[in-house]
Amino acid sequence: MEKKICIITGANAGIGEAAAGQVGAAGHHVILACRSKERGESALRKLRSNNIHISAEVMILDMSLQSSIHRFVRAFKAKYDHLDILIHNAAYFDISQKQAIKTTEGIEQVWATNHLGPVLLTNLLLGYLMASPNGRILTIASKGLVIMRHTKVDLEDPEFETRRFSVPKAYYQSKCAQIIYTYWLAKKLKETSITVNCIRVTNVKIDISRYPNISRFNKWLYKQKSKKSITPEVMAKTYTFLALDPRFERVTGRYFNEHNEEVKSSAYTYSEDEAEKVMKLTFSYFKEGAEENA
Ligand SMILES: NC(=O)c1ccc[n+]([C@@H]2O[C@H](COP(=O)([O-])OP(=O)(O)OC[C@H]3O[C@@H](n4cnc5c(N)ncnc54)[C@H](OP(=O)(O)O)[C@@H]3O)[C@@H](O)[C@H]2O)c1
Repeated sequence: MEKKICIITGANAGIGEAAAGQVGAAGHHVILACRSKERGESALRKLRSNNIHISAEVMILDMSLQSSIHRFVRAFKAKYDHLDILIHNAAYFDISQKQAIKTTEGIEQVWATNHLGPVLLTNLLLGYLMASPNGRILTIASKGLVIMRHTKVDLEDPEFETRRFSVPKAYYQSKCAQIIYTYWLAKKLKETSITVNCIRVTNVKIDISRYPNISRFNKWLYKQKSKKSITPEVMAKTYTFLALDPRFERVTGRYFNEHNEEVKSSAYTYSEDEAEKVMKLTFSYFKEGAEENA
């Protein structure tokens, strides 16, 4: 079996960590791309304690910062000559947050982390994915968009400068943008060996201790929600399946649920005109450049 190289962002917790364990256990090399060295290494120790033979490493990557993404890509390219799998798992969602927070680069954090970061990272790695016989990109959205089905990207105000900020609104806007991006990119790459698919993550147990500032009410709410949620390990099986299964070599531009079944997203996300507008807006953010040698 050919050993694949797989980058998983935000692999120090939850579904990303579980997916790292599964892809590693399948005999592939996993790069845990994490913003905290300490949290990344602690996850790596955990993976190794479960499976001593796992081939994995931590590389530092803060998905909210374009400078960090450029740095990560330079470090990756200094070490590797191709990339087989890129899983955009990392996301920012802190229900205790009341106001929009800007990153040190001046962009609203949810938009920067959950949408702009994945687009920039993919773009900078495209040549390396092309060098793989079957590069696979997985983006992550949310089943919550079934209820929030009228969500659109606010092209005039994606960063909530003039409208009232709410974490769910910012989060679902970013996840909606990721679905649009998936379909758009799959079309752009249709003549290549790279596939791009999006996963509709359902209600998955999270480690609530990661959010010390949430109110008692929200803690209670999470407890109730978690009674119906699946484990990160179960959800990660879909990541692993779409990343590795040979039957998916040519499947691209699709949206999958936790049962590995194709599902539909909102009508808005399929509009090519809207996608052009969203992607034009997205690329306007990449001041340092989004091209491979930028
Ligand atoms: N859990 C659910 O019910 C649910 C539902 C729908 C969709 N999802 C999606 O599923 C994916 C995984 O979620 P999860 O439940 O596993 O969440 P989680 O346990 O909170 O893990 C999120 C991961 O993202 C990382 N992250 C956050 N901001 C980052 C940044 N700027 N740079 C790099 N890494 C960053 C976190 O690292 P730190 O430790 O540094 O914060 C953590 O490793 C996300 O895309 C999420 O939106 C989850």
